[in-house]
Amino acid sequence: MAQSESSTLTIPSSGKIPRHIAIIMDGNGRWARQRMLPRIAGHRRGSEAVRELVENAARLGIEYVTLFAFSSENWRRPPEEVSMLMQLFISNLENEISRLHQAGIRVRIIGDLSRLGQRLETLIADAHQLTRNNKRLTLTVAVNYGGRWDILQAVNALLRDHPEKMREPVTEADLSPYLSMGDACEPDLFIRTGGEQRISNFLLWQLAYTELYFTDALWPDFNRASLEAAIRSYQQRERRFGRTSEQCCAPES
Ligand code: IPE
Ligand code: IPE
Ligand code: MG
Repeated sequence: MAQSESSTLTIPSSGKIPRHIAIIMDGNGRWARQRMLPRIAGHRRGSEAVRELVENAARLGIEYVTLFAFSSENWRRPPEEVSMLMQLFISNLENEISRLHQAGIRVRIIGDLSRLGQRLETLIADAHQLTRNNKRLTLTVAVNYGGRWDILQAVNALLRDHPEKMREPVTEADLSPYLSMGDACEPDLFIRTGGEQRISNFLLWQLAYTELYFTDALWPDFNRASLEAAIRSYQQRERRFGRTSEQCCAPES
């Protein structure tokens, strides 16, 4: 499957190990509350879970890991929590980027970065530049991201580059390259921790045919065994992409 091919246009090859895992890392606040700790303590432990996840994903040969770190709706949280989350993001980027680079990880930050402030914008640009040629795994972190924002910014960018499209039908193939994840294959497996069963405006376009997996585990507790359990569940799914079960089981001719 070419990287930017769409699951609604072509059938991607389904391997045993998902090529791309997208995760809503939820439950940090509840993890902290259970321990009578401030919410930020949960977010800090959540960052440690991210480190472990990236190591495990790289070891398993997963090519893309996409993490929802801060949604466009998370600005509605108390300003102190928003500010602490931004600080944590800054220190994580500063402290982790060289280790990620040495491990061969390409780091990408997606979302509306214009609201994040100059310091973060510079750190993000430096991280992209430093790791851009790394091949082992692409780690994408969605910050101030919303799936609807992504589709709208893609439409606007397409029309800016191709004003003639105002008068012609826009196709999937026209739009895909402008989406934030335009250079990646679509997620094979979506994981949400924390027990909630919703998409919360994450990758709305890209999740069209993704296998969904929900777990009650809180994000700071998500470890190697949790990842392996999610992948085992994925391996038992039959990905039909519109076909019948018989067609999927038929030996390839
Ligand atoms: C997810 O954990 C992290 C972010 C949204 C930044 P939460 O902070 O949403 O944790 P809960 O849902 O309150 O437990
Ligand atoms: C979703 O978590 C966004 C992130 C994990 C960054 P939330 O905890 O904010 O989701 P909702 O709003 O409860 O669905
Ligand atoms: Mg939550």
